[in-house]
Amino acid sequence: MSNDVTLTSTQKKCVTFKPKGDLLVQGIPGSGKSTILLARSKYLQEKKPHDSQLFITFSRALTNYVKQLATKNGIESIDAKTFHQWGQELLKETDYPNTILKLGKDRSEIIRYAKNIVNKHGKKVSFPNMRVEKNEHRVLLKFLCDEIEWIKGNGIISRNEYLSTKRTGRGNDIRVTKENRETIYDVLEKYNEILENDNRHKGIDGDDLARILIEKADQIPDSLRPDHVLVDEAQDLHTMQLKAISTISQKSLTIGADKGQQIYRRTFTWKKAGIDIIGNRSKYLKQTFRSTRQIIELANDFQEKDTLFTKDQDYHKAQVPEIEGKMPELCLCNNKDEEEKNIIEQVTKIRSSYPDDTIGIIATTHRRLEQLEELLDDKGFPVYRIKDNNADIVSPGVKLITYQSSKGLEFDHVIITGLKQGSLPYKAPSPGDDEEEFLSRERKKLYVAVTRAKKTLMLIATKKYSSFIQDLNDNYYEVKK
Ligand SMILES: Nc1ncnc2c1ncn2[C@@H]1O[C@H](COP(=O)(O)OP(=O)(O)O)[C@@H](O)[C@H]1O
Ligand SMILES: [Mg+2]
Repeated sequence: MSNDVTLTSTQKKCVTFKPKGDLLVQGIPGSGKSTILLARSKYLQEKKPHDSQLFITFSRALTNYVKQLATKNGIESIDAKTFHQWGQELLKETDYPNTILKLGKDRSEIIRYAKNIVNKHGKKVSFPNMRVEKNEHRVLLKFLCDEIEWIKGNGIISRNEYLSTKRTGRGNDIRVTKENRETIYDVLEKYNEILENDNRHKGIDGDDLARILIEKADQIPDSLRPDHVLVDEAQDLHTMQLKAISTISQKSLTIGADKGQQIYRRTFTWKKAGIDIIGNRSKYLKQTFRSTRQIIELANDFQEKDTLFTKDQDYHKAQVPEIEGKMPELCLCNNKDEEEKNIIEQVTKIRSSYPDDTIGIIATTHRRLEQLEELLDDKGFPVYRIKDNNADIVSPGVKLITYQSSKGLEFDHVIITGLKQGSLPYKAPSPGDDEEEFLSRERKKLYVAVTRAKKTLMLIATKKYSSFIQDLNDNYYEVKK
């Protein structure tokens, strides 16, 4: 993204849309959603110099990227944060001033403890059957943690509400009866009680943050409630998070989203999140400015194999761009050593012809990225790991990143690794997760990775090849010899 971009008339309409109420900008990868949000931020700064603004992104890597792009585009200062960063700051203004939010491993430890208490002292204890041969306790704990996140993420706060809510987005492989739900709710209550008894937590955890912000919105002083909020990659937020943002913003809310890149388990509709997208408040952009025709043809064809997504009302097929480029290459390897050899060959080739270009290497795990960093560093390449806070994304060189964190970013050349069965798609869905939805999300990860590429794309598969390789249409790639 740079200063010399001339916006299309549709893009311009989004930028200069009246600064009041909601605006939803959906569009395929590379259609300019982030570009529009940044331009709108600048527009609002100029048009309403006394109004406050906040830019919310999904990940810290993206927050950094947005800040870098803002600087590059002459936007003075941009206040960009993740939902959690912002929410925790506001929480200080409510009845929960010094509350520490339990997250991750700590949280599952307490849930395990709560589960054990319920199991011992509960009256009619009935946990759902996990239908696994091994590690049943661990699988059940994971299931409970996910279910509690889901209950809180959907703003459910009473037993009756939980008992009567349809569990969309949850799989059918594990049957959850009414009795099971009673027990799950017992665990949730016990878990909250334990948090309550520890005055650092006041009975809440990270998944309650959005609900508390909504409930306590009137305790938050106006000076901390931004007049205009811009949200990028909104498809990855929980309904309640979006609702909290919408409740707290004062004048306008501009949202960029693409459900085709929804890689986390989310079940929301814009309406449920309280977003008003009637009439011209909703725009859809189908033209990409990022990638070549060859890359988009491969990506479109692959996306169409996801019948779950193509049924979604937010699905639109991407227009094929006019920019011509090289055919994407598929490189089939027997093992990791061969994969590494090919990565080095490809990086060497690109660097010798285009030393000022960016190369993104995408892998499934941080461990693999660490290995690749060492390997490329040894060979003397300028290599950067894109982690939370040190995201130097726009300067030339080799950037190493996971599939998930690559979202929102772009590179001149992309090398996709880890296309191995068990790595992508991952070996199995989480307990209680729907198999079809799980596969759809795994597929979207590859779709996201492919659509990061501007000029060239190489996909590397190692044995046993990912089942997704069969879903790539061989009319749209060449096999590397
Ligand atoms: N109207 C345009 N003309 C030329 N390039 C554009 C235009 N709009 C966006 N771009 C470029 O296309 C790329 C993708 O834009 P971006 O805003 O990142 O898309 P999205 O957020 O929708 O994935 C960026 O490099 C951006 O500079
Ligand atoms: Mg974007």
